[in-house]
Amino acid sequence: MAEEQQLTAAGNEISASFLAARRRSENTMAALEKDPSKFTMLTGDRPTGRLHLGHYFGSIRERVAMQNRGVNTNIIIADYQVITDRDTTEHIQDNVLNLVLDYLAAGIDPERTMIFTHSAVPQENQLMLPFLSLVTEAELHRNPTVKAEMEASGHALTGLLLTYPVHQACDILFCKANVVPIGKDNLPHIEITRTIARRFNERYAKKNPVFPEPAAILSEAAEIPGLDGRKMSKSYGNSIMLGATAEETAKLIRKSKTDGERRITFDPMNRPEVSALLTTAGLVTDRNPEDIAAEIGDAGAGALKQYVTQSVNEFLAPHRERRAELAQDMDTIRDILHDGNKRAREIAEQTLDEVREAMGMKY
Ligand code: TRP
Repeated sequence: MAEEQQLTAAGNEISASFLAARRRSENTMAALEKDPSKFTMLTGDRPTGRLHLGHYFGSIRERVAMQNRGVNTNIIIADYQVITDRDTTEHIQDNVLNLVLDYLAAGIDPERTMIFTHSAVPQENQLMLPFLSLVTEAELHRNPTVKAEMEASGHALTGLLLTYPVHQACDILFCKANVVPIGKDNLPHIEITRTIARRFNERYAKKNPVFPEPAAILSEAAEIPGLDGRKMSKSYGNSIMLGATAEETAKLIRKSKTDGERRITFDPMNRPEVSALLTTAGLVTDRNPEDIAAEIGDAGAGALKQYVTQSVNEFLAPHRERRAELAQDMDTIRDILHDGNKRAREIAEQTLDEVREAMGMKY
């Protein structure tokens, strides 16, 4: 109960549904560690740009660990989700292929993990029709992430932005995933997915449920701040890209803002920029940011930046080397995607068949 009174940084009470989701995440992870073979993971990314260190520590690392534990792992490159809040698909092909490069370089093995795109799996998209019938307009309008994205986009609410959480349910349920690693902002989408699965089973498949009710897996990793102390985000220009060169990374860190105080201390509230550098160095070296601050002390921001640059580049060197090697043969990268898409279509066809069967639509 004491937990129920916990406050967020913004001073809001943590909601009961968030606590329930976190508890479910912890319990599911415990069960998964005991018997990974009972679990199917699906998660993914919107191909809107390159992956950065925040993605690596927040999600990519976890996906590789799930794969290596023996979970049935699936990664969707959510290309239709790109047009929920923007009106161009410029660079999409390049973004998609570069995501595949980063996944593979980070340790995703396409023999064990299916990688695919929305647009290549019509059978998955078709689930959208029965699923839309299972939610009300009011429920769709209540989604806080959709509201925030609409406000940030500065555009009117499109039909796709309003309904993409249902499309995300199609992503998850077509392969009957029961674990979905995501960030907090995606929790409402997992809630609607659980609702859709439950309602479908209740309405059409009481005896033989077609869909599992998946659990969100919330990342344990501390959120890695961007170099300016704000959230790491491509649009802020504060992100260390996995695929950048060592020189580009050095330049970005050198240019990053610090403050007037010479002595380096770890104080995220009062010194966000210096602390962001320390957090970054801590993550890539697996050290405590306070220890790094104490070690640098009066040597100042120049010495800190040097340490961050060196440790980040050292950490990313093997990833970048594998990435460059893989990029020599883009035909193979395309083949990997084609193969994933083909497997996804087969699985989706099978699920769609079960859906038609349950709904009496087999003629
Ligand atoms: N919405 C997710 C994001 O913003 C990407 C995504 C699309 C996803 N489909 C998914 C995540 C299915 C988990 C499961 O990053």
